[in-house]
Amino acid sequence: MDMRIYLIGYMGSGKSTAGKGLAKNLNLTFIDMDDYIERRNMRTIPQIFAEDGEDGFRKIERKALLELSEFEDVVIGTGGGAPCFFDNMDIIQKTGKSVYLKGTPRILAERLRKSKVERPLIKGKSEEELIAFIDETLAKREKWYKQAGVVLEFDHDLSDDEVLKALK
Ligand code: S3P
Repeated sequence: MDMRIYLIGYMGSGKSTAGKGLAKNLNLTFIDMDDYIERRNMRTIPQIFAEDGEDGFRKIERKALLELSEFEDVVIGTGGGAPCFFDNMDIIQKTGKSVYLKGTPRILAERLRKSKVERPLIKGKSEEELIAFIDETLAKREKWYKQAGVVLEFDHDLSDDEVLKALK
């Protein structure tokens, strides 16, 4: 049976970690959307932001989503902003199951502080600026995120079992 699961949520919500575990448990293939974009365009995400701006990145991201929405038997970890531009969330809804990994701003900030992934939107922000940015963007993005079929709230590191149970 054709299966497609989208994990959505803010930067640092653990979409890749949860997605890999879920894919393993369900015998599906995990695809990280940002990795896919980088391979497909032969540029890194920071490079795309620097050369094409955020608007350019969003167009590339949308094209990637359209392509990925035709892949079968996959768990897709979307970019944090992906559901919140164009009619991307409709595409997600129409082509698969979606799970919103809803971390508290505190855990998101903590993970982003430790992360080695370069994220243009938060680069160079102080602790206070990061928390303010998370609060502000989450407030704007929540209306898309909460359209997910499953909302999994957490304030700790999720186990593979917790993610699997949420889907059932
Ligand atoms: C972004 C999230 C990033 C990446 C880009 C923009 C966002 O993905 O797509 O830096 O707008 O939230 P992750 O959520 O995987 O960090």
